[in-house]
Formats: sequence, structure tokens, C-alpha cells
Amino acid sequence: MPKAQGSLDGKVALITGASSGIGAAAARVFVREGARVVLFARREARLKELTAELSASGADAVYCAGDVQDSADVERAVAHAVQTYGRLDVAFNNAGTGGELAPLHLLDDAAYDLVMDTNVRGVWNCLRHEIRAMTAAPEGGGAIVNTSSVAGLVAPSVPAPYIAAKHAVIGLTKAAAVEYAADGIRVNAIAPGLTRSEMVEDWFARVPGQEDRSKASAPQNRVAAPEEVAEAAAWLCSDRSSFVTGATLPVDGGRTTW
Ligand SMILES: NC(=O)c1ccc[n+]([C@@H]2O[C@H](COP(=O)([O-])OP(=O)(O)OC[C@H]3O[C@@H](n4cnc5c(N)ncnc54)[C@H](OP(=O)(O)O)[C@@H]3O)[C@@H](O)[C@H]2O)c1
Repeated sequence: MPKAQGSLDGKVALITGASSGIGAAAARVFVREGARVVLFARREARLKELTAELSASGADAVYCAGDVQDSADVERAVAHAVQTYGRLDVAFNNAGTGGELAPLHLLDDAAYDLVMDTNVRGVWNCLRHEIRAMTAAPEGGGAIVNTSSVAGLVAPSVPAPYIAAKHAVIGLTKAAAVEYAADGIRVNAIAPGLTRSEMVEDWFARVPGQEDRSKASAPQNRVAAPEEVAEAAAWLCSDRSSFVTGATLPVDGGRTTW
């Protein structure tokens, strides 16, 4: 029997926030689907370890350490993909931070700036450099997925700057989808609900009772595994979603349904 074709066979993929949680799960899922990956985040030791794990399984994987807030770091990561594999086909712009847990009127400018610079400027930096590389390639085209959140669709009990930032990610996604449709570049967002990751474990540890409250806020009443979210990103990055662009896909156990 011929080997089943992966949905991302041969694609070159940049994944940000790949050192833990959803991004690390995406690295494994994308590679399983046949992608060649470039992993990006600040914690180099984590990236090195994951790259070694993926390479040992026979995958093509490299990493580039950097900060999404810094345009030059993102430019370097995109250049690394092009230099290593010859082009950039897909990108999963997933790096993000939850920020400080406090009511709006008690947060200072630094708390606001960190969340906006990571979650919005970070996606902005990624989009600009990725789209430049995609439009410069002779074959053109591409697919980009940005990580928003259910907090990009409604206002759950998380800090206000995070809600503002994740709404902005959806705005950037729509704008880029419209501007680059004619270039064959699709741009979509995912809006994950409660997902097991460092960010969420930290939240549960700091706020007593939060885990049960958060679970009960969605019909499925559970925390997703990061792989469940990564599968949705992989599908949106693949040609199997060829008529989907400018969309935001909730991956939330029904959180935004009721
Ligand atoms: N878990 C959930 O319930 C949930 C729900 C909705 C949306 N999300 C979103 O999902 C995305 C992934 O988060 P996660 O849940 O997987 O949490 P996580 O385990 O804390 O992962 C966050 C990732 O982002 C990276 N990152 C943070 N700031 C960065 C920066 N300035 N530059 C580069 N990388 C940076 C982190 O790596 P380094 O620290 O190594 O840089 C890490 O790899 C985020 O955008 C988050 O807002 C999560």
C-alpha cells in the first residue's frame, strides 16, 4: 500500500512560540504531516531539545532563538527558513503571553505594553516578514495561521489587555487575508479555548478554583490537550483548507457557542 500523504508534505513551516504548549505540539503535528520546520521562541535550550527530538525521528527541523517583539529577530527567523530550505510556505504565528492578572484599573503601562507588544506587534512583525518572503518566491502563495483566543471573540475572565490584543490579532488576520488573496496567500486565525500549557498551568496555580470555573465555562467541560489545537492549525496551514481565508476558527470545546 502506498504511504499516506501528509497534509503538509514538503512544506516549509515557521512556528513561533514553539518552545512549549501549543507551539511545541504544532512542531510535532506539522512534522508528522510532512513539513520541514523552523522553530522560534526565546528559550534556546527548549528549542534545541525539541529540534533534536524531531531530527532523531527523521524530520527536517531547525530552530532560531529570538523575540517576536523584535522585528529584526523575526526577519532573521524568516531568512533562516529561506536559507535552509529555499523558501517559506506556511507560518503558524502562535507566540503569546497572558500578562499580569489584575483588574484593568490596577494595571500599569508596562503590563499593557508587554501584552500588546508580544501578542499584536509580534504577529505584525511575523506577517510583514513572512509575506515579504512568500511574495518574493517565484512560486508565490502561502498559508498563515495566527493564534488568537476565545478572548478575541468574547471577554472571558482574563486581563483586559489580553482581550484587546487577541481581538486585534483577528483584525490583522482579516486585513492580511484581503490584501494578499490575489497573491495566493491565505491568512486565518484560530481561537483556542482552555488548553493545557505553561500559561494555563500558571493561571490555575495562582487562582484557587480557576481550573473548575474555566472548565465549566464550555460545554465540553475539560481542558484540551495542546495537540488538539495544533491539529486545527495544521489543517488551516494545509492545502486541504484551500477556500478558507480571513476566517477565525474557534477550537474551544463549544466555549463561544453558549
Ligand atoms: N492555553 C490556552 O488556554 C490558550 C487559549 C487561547 C489562546 N492561547 C494562545 O496560544 C498561544 C500559545 O500559548 P500556550 O497556551 O501554548 O502557552 P505557553 O506554553 O506559555 O506558550 C507560549 C509560547 O510563546 C512563546 N513566547 C512568549 N513570548 C514570546 C516572545 N516575546 N517572543 C517569542 N516567543 C514568545 C513562549 O516561548 P519563550 O518563553 O521560550 O519565548 C512559548 O513558546 C498564545 O498566543 C496564547 O495566547 C492559549
